[in-house]
Amino acid sequence: MMEKPIRLLLIEDDQEDVLLIRELLSDIGGQSFLLKYAGELEAGLEMAAAGEVDIVLLDLSLPDSQGLETFIRLYGEIPGVPIVVMSGLNDERIALTAVREGAQDYLVKGHVDHNILARTIRYAIERKRVEEELRLSLEKLRRSLEKTISAMSLAVEIRDPYTAGHQREVTKLVEAIGREMGLEKEQLDGVRLAAEVHDLGKINIPAEILSKPGPLTPIEFNLIQTHPKVGFDILKSIEFPWPIDRIVHQHHERINGSGYPEGLTGSEILLEAKILSVADVVEAMSSHRPYRPALGVEKALNEIVLHRGTLYDADVVDVCIKLFRERKFRFGNS
Ligand SMILES: [Fe+2]
Repeated sequence: MMEKPIRLLLIEDDQEDVLLIRELLSDIGGQSFLLKYAGELEAGLEMAAAGEVDIVLLDLSLPDSQGLETFIRLYGEIPGVPIVVMSGLNDERIALTAVREGAQDYLVKGHVDHNILARTIRYAIERKRVEEELRLSLEKLRRSLEKTISAMSLAVEIRDPYTAGHQREVTKLVEAIGREMGLEKEQLDGVRLAAEVHDLGKINIPAEILSKPGPLTPIEFNLIQTHPKVGFDILKSIEFPWPIDRIVHQHHERINGSGYPEGLTGSEILLEAKILSVADVVEAMSSHRPYRPALGVEKALNEIVLHRGTLYDADVVDVCIKLFRERKFRFGNS
């Protein structure tokens, strides 16, 4: 039985090579091809972007682009379409780099017969399909993990009305600081999710203590101080792709070692935790608490400037101040 035609885009400027590949393709039994052809990268990019391509055979040296750059530009345009690189250059190093960068295969011109070509094309399409499936299921898994965090965050807020919204507001500031500091997406996702549940461990503390209007007794204060460790213990049982458990564990640590629960100093504290601790303090001081009215953003900013480099990371403080002063960052409730 004849297989469904494979829509193949050939990007190749050498007419002899084009003819040769046409010939090889016509010789593959049981498989037909719908061939599109471009003699330059720009034209190829346009055709590829228009869709309806199952696979691309790409010559690396074209009139308007040379070497691996040719592949990288095409791959950037159509990351979901398998690309097989063809080159006149039998260079193992380039071949390996191309495959590392995402090429499905690397064929050397003159070393390809119709059997090799047919197999390469079929395998490339199949491998790309599996890769895409894997990518989608990973994305789905990450979304589920993010939803787990949101559910935990909601549980904290339902139980503790006084910090309702606190985690959400802290998350906004954490995200803004992280972005301004140029954190990679992966690191930014981690600190954002940690911020959403940073006070999760408070579910272990009686609600009367959390909502107590007056000052806390030493025993009550000790109990409150267990919340980073309790949060860590709950979160560590889930294998997140981000260090959420450790960030939560460290969000009350201070640069000079005066924080809790471990009394970590400077470089022992994750950058994400340093960001979270600044955002946490600024939000907490800015808003109303059971035991005091809101102190206001100005007092909160004075506090972090006063302890810049001793309690709080100097770079994080600078970025935070810049956000409020120059970028007009505001909390939702102010
Ligand atoms: Fe906390």
